[in-house]
Amino acid sequence: MKIVIVGASGTIGSAVSTLLASLHEIVRVGHRQGDARVDMTDSASIAALFDATGPFDALVVASGNLAFGPLAQLSDEQWQFGLESKLMGQIKLTRAAIPYLREGGSITLTSGIVSEVPIQGGASATTINGAIEHFAKAAACELPKGLRINVVSPTLLTESREAYGPFFPGFESVPAARVALAYQRAVMGVQSGQVFKVFD
Ligand SMILES: NC(=O)c1ccc[n+]([C@@H]2O[C@H](COP(=O)([O-])OP(=O)(O)OC[C@H]3O[C@@H](n4cnc5c(N)ncnc54)[C@H](OP(=O)(O)O)[C@@H]3O)[C@@H](O)[C@H]2O)c1
Repeated sequence: MKIVIVGASGTIGSAVSTLLASLHEIVRVGHRQGDARVDMTDSASIAALFDATGPFDALVVASGNLAFGPLAQLSDEQWQFGLESKLMGQIKLTRAAIPYLREGGSITLTSGIVSEVPIQGGASATTINGAIEHFAKAAACELPKGLRINVVSPTLLTESREAYGPFFPGFESVPAARVALAYQRAVMGVQSGQVFKVFD
């Protein structure tokens, strides 16, 4: 399989790339590094990416930024930031990938535990992660060519505990290598419209 991984240099993306690289051809895509580069907020940049990759079998998106802050202080710009990056970025990548995905291919997006478990300062993150999961549920019903779409929802990663741990008091973390297995299941499996949770 030829698998395009957006966010391949990241904490999650690098673990997914490592896991899948033993059996598959991986196109590592980042914003500033990788085999190819893209700005997932920019439709022209996304079009140029897929023009360069040509046809492929699976798209994995392990990127997308969010703003955190107290609900009463989150600005329009902070809301817009997450909507344009994590939500519309993944939706734009999905829509643009369809013509390039081979028959029976798949798309795997990323949400996060806060879609189900709100945290302090996480109203935007909960809203956007939830929307990603609802998008995939609907898109699964309409995708052509037998394409599948799923979402992986990880809890806090052990590797990210130092950076984000204070926002997740009392949350267990999981190693990136375990989270990567959920992406492998989404890419190699048969289900569609599902959320693969890596928590509970
Ligand atoms: N880490 C966690 O604990 C955790 C838990 C649950 C959910 N998540 C979600 O999982 C996703 C990945 O998280 P992560 O911690 O692995 O991220 P990360 O380590 O910060 O890596 C981010 C990746 O996204 C790429 N990127 C940044 N801006 C981009 C843009 N505008 N267009 C395309 N690619 C861009 C980066 O590329 P360059 O390196 O080239 O800049 C990098 O490869 C995020 O949506 C996050 O919300 C993370």
